[in-house]
Amino acid sequence: MERNLPKGCRLLALQVKGDQRGSLIPLERATGVPFDIARVYFIYGTQPGVSRGFHAHYRLRQVAVCVAGSCTMILDNGRDRTELHLDQPDHGIEIGPMIWHEMHDFSADCVVVVLADGPYDEGDYIRDRAEFVELAGIG
Ligand code: TYD
Repeated sequence: MERNLPKGCRLLALQVKGDQRGSLIPLERATGVPFDIARVYFIYGTQPGVSRGFHAHYRLRQVAVCVAGSCTMILDNGRDRTELHLDQPDHGIEIGPMIWHEMHDFSADCVVVVLADGPYDEGDYIRDRAEFVELAGIG
């Protein structure tokens, strides 16, 4: 997996609690989630050929975990785009504020669990990439 992530993004190695019965991954501060979790949402059942995301947040911090199937995530700081193939439930991707993110190539069985440090707030979204690039002030 590409580890050269934009500033504000990190690959989190999640601790797997496994035994002969199977695996379990707990998500909380103590296991490496870098914030208090305020919201959790799942992305699943994405239709073939559909891409999602295409936004950045002013303030929100998130951790995305592909818990089943696979997809591609683009992390973009306004100048550099990093592409990650997500297919491991023990890999968390921290997505900081002011990172344009997109998700592509969803497998039919893909489930992405996202942890967020704040409530849903449409006012925190930047959905226009040109506006994002200008606000990011990098390019
Ligand atoms: P949207 O931002 O379009 O999803 P994606 O980033 O995957 O392209 O969100 C889809 C819908 O879900 C939209 O109507 C907003 C709503 N939504 C909530 O109500 N709460 C949430 O926490 C999120 C993330 C989305």
